[in-house]
Amino acid sequence: MLIKRANDLRDHDVTDYALYQKRREFLKLLGGATLLSTSSPSRAGLFSNDNNDEITPFSDASSYNNFYEFGSSKSDPKRFAQSLKIKPWSVTVDGACAKAGTYNLEDLLGPQTIEERIYRLRCVEGWSMVIPWNGFPLANLLKRFEPSSKAKFVRFETLSDPAQMPQLKDELLPWPYVEGLRMDEAMHPLTLIATGMYGKHLPKQNGAPLRLVVPWKYGFKSIKSIVRISFVEQAPRTIWQKVAADEYGFYANVNPAVSHKRWSQKKERRLGEFFKRDTQAFNGYAEQVASLYKGMDLRVNF
Ligand code: MTE
Repeated sequence: MLIKRANDLRDHDVTDYALYQKRREFLKLLGGATLLSTSSPSRAGLFSNDNNDEITPFSDASSYNNFYEFGSSKSDPKRFAQSLKIKPWSVTVDGACAKAGTYNLEDLLGPQTIEERIYRLRCVEGWSMVIPWNGFPLANLLKRFEPSSKAKFVRFETLSDPAQMPQLKDELLPWPYVEGLRMDEAMHPLTLIATGMYGKHLPKQNGAPLRLVVPWKYGFKSIKSIVRISFVEQAPRTIWQKVAADEYGFYANVNPAVSHKRWSQKKERRLGEFFKRDTQAFNGYAEQVASLYKGMDLRVNF
């Protein structure tokens, strides 16, 4: 990889990365081509690079996963998610918007320009990684559906197909996997739809063909393999709230000052490191996102 360091992305650094500007190239990508080649344009200077996080090796990021539809141990998703059929793929858009409908993946992604964003991912369980995602701002997608003023939240749903997802036959979790964001969080420039990582297609275990990435929130908000996007008036009840609302709040902003009911969130273990490091407020993205929560008690809205 050309980039060795993680960046702290600022709004003005959200530069369109011209990897796949031509639609034809993009369609090639959908057809199975590898994204980055050694002839890719240099990425130097596109992002601020003021922190020293090392990028997590691809082999770790693609083999140590949470994707409970395929099992509850970290190695299960890589092993069992290969049965996921990602072609054809469609996403149903409904609720408070003018352009509701069922869209096939190519139509959804075709107009988007893919950028690279290097983000920290902090799991609520206390581990973290640094991942170079390939994707585009969720806002660019949502705007196309012309949400109305009634759209206060966005609800996301993962595919739930017991024929492809072995754990759906068990009652491990109240399927389908559902997550949600407030509209302003969804439209924030840091909020990404990822279609790839490390310059490759998104591995199935990481949520192919499209997943959410919200870097200032605990990883469970970053819902995988999305099949439905709904514009709603009320905060959707998420899968983890159904499991334990007192442990997994709707906001789930990374916050070392608010412990999980059963463990502290002050520290985290970066994959591959021995010593724990301090967890940062909003996972280090406070400068960009803290204003979204002005006046809110983050102990109550955890
Ligand atoms: N999305 C679905 N559909 N199912 C899941 O089990 N796990 C979440 C999130 N998205 C999950 C999901 C959790 S708990 C985390 S930490 C991240 O995915 C992990 O993403 P990764 O496996 O790509 O690192």
